[in-house]
Amino acid sequence: MKLEDMKIVVTGGASGMGRHFSLALAGAGASVAACDMNQEGLDSLAKEAEGLPGALRTYTCNVADEAQVEATFDQAWKDLDGLNGVVNNAGIFRDGLLVKKDKTTGQVKSMSLKNWQAVIDVDLTGPFLCTRALASRMVDADAKGGGVVVNIASISRHGNMGQGNYSAAKAGLHADTVVWAKELARYGIRVATIAPGFIDTPILQGMREDALQMMLKGVPLRRVGQPAEIFAGIKFIIECDYFTGRCLDIDGGLRL
Ligand SMILES: NC(=O)c1ccc[n+]([C@@H]2O[C@H](COP(=O)([O-])OP(=O)(O)OC[C@H]3O[C@@H](n4cnc5c(N)ncnc54)[C@H](O)[C@@H]3O)[C@@H](O)[C@H]2O)c1
Repeated sequence: MKLEDMKIVVTGGASGMGRHFSLALAGAGASVAACDMNQEGLDSLAKEAEGLPGALRTYTCNVADEAQVEATFDQAWKDLDGLNGVVNNAGIFRDGLLVKKDKTTGQVKSMSLKNWQAVIDVDLTGPFLCTRALASRMVDADAKGGGVVVNIASISRHGNMGQGNYSAAKAGLHADTVVWAKELARYGIRVATIAPGFIDTPILQGMREDALQMMLKGVPLRRVGQPAEIFAGIKFIIECDYFTGRCLDIDGGLRL
């Protein structure tokens, strides 16, 4: 598929990587439906996209809310005259150990069900709802020309201490990439995962410099990645019509 032929939803489009993906896709001539819960971020995104070769529209949507996802995809389908892709990028983390005993007080703390559920809802249920919304509309319309789903997971999918909720969601997301790639191939829809390592977005920009340097010791390339380097993976997945069901680890070698 060609970038300029994409009519694609990008979730979490107001900030960080999703913002970069939305602008890069519209810059390449694609029609983009950027959705997010951050209205202010969406408004500034729409301004920034003015004058790009493609079209960019914004939608306020919580990807964990079934009714909002359905309404957003209905509207985007109308506005863009159909859809043929989604980048499931919206994500949150609420880190914490399963249980932790305080060395001085002896008090045992644990990950709350609220923090478990919040991450599963956004990072796993969100992509399920959005992928289902895209695929059901494309199949119902007998859409021709193919479709692409890109799931943004994380290297944490391999199991990262302090991220039981996030690791489960991201590992589950790649498991569903495999399932959906098998199920949707007959309709011409390909599904792939990208698992980024440490990427330069507002999450990392808030980190202490010494903590960041410590973290980078485990990265063979000794630097954080840029959103543009993750977009290179999205571009490859869209353009390579023989790629489906697989994960691209774009992590500077962190998982080697
Ligand atoms: N930055 C990294 O180092 C890194 C590494 C690996 C994976 N990731 C993944 O990449 C994706 C993007 O991360 P980022 O660093 O750009 O984060 P970010 O916080 O800059 O952007 C995430 C966006 O998602 C939106 N969002 C959150 N919950 C939402 C919901 N329920 N519905 C709709 N939108 C919602 C936020 O408002 C925000 O605009 C996430 O899935 C994250 O898990 C990030």
